[in-house]
Amino acid sequence: MRTFTVAALFAASILALAPVASAQNLEVIKERKSLLKEMGKATKAPGDMLKGATPFDLAAVKAALAKYQENAPKIAKLFPDDSKTGGETEALPALWENKDDVTKRFEKLAADAKAAEASITDEFTFMDEFPKVVGNCGACHKKYRKDDK
Ligand code: HEC
Repeated sequence: MRTFTVAALFAASILALAPVASAQNLEVIKERKSLLKEMGKATKAPGDMLKGATPFDLAAVKAALAKYQENAPKIAKLFPDDSKTGGETEALPALWENKDDVTKRFEKLAADAKAAEASITDEFTFMDEFPKVVGNCGACHKKYRKDDK
């Protein structure tokens, strides 16, 4: 009788967990990936300029800085607990153990981008200031994104 009860309780608990496990927030994963991808695209032109592959273009730099400020606060809110897996997410489990740090990093990216908007006025200030802004990207990826990309 006792065994039956334990088995029944166990079965009931599995059933109770099942909906949680399947309710991965695929929409939210898709949304954060798309906002991150936008930042990646915006970074392409300034990245080429930094390498000296294309001529300096202040407008493209300002566009990237504006994109970071627009997207970073949105992305910071797109890591709910039910979005840890699924949707080919590259986010590491450590992210959810350090949500405050992650939020602060997105805030810092936006703040640094805002400051750089004022301080970058020509190619020289761009070479000095832009790498500091995008340093925030790599630093966070190293901790919280798979494959250290
Ligand atoms: C505070 C942390 C953090 C910061 C800052 C950050 N990222 Fe990411 N990034 C992530 C995480 C986590 C993922 C994986 C998201 C996923 O797959 O669910 C990611 C994924 C990406 C992707 C891949 C998106 C896709 O298609 O799946 C690109 C591109 C990207 N980031 C670009 C950037 C750029 C450019 C910056 C800086 C301007 C930046 N990120 C700043 C954490 C961050």
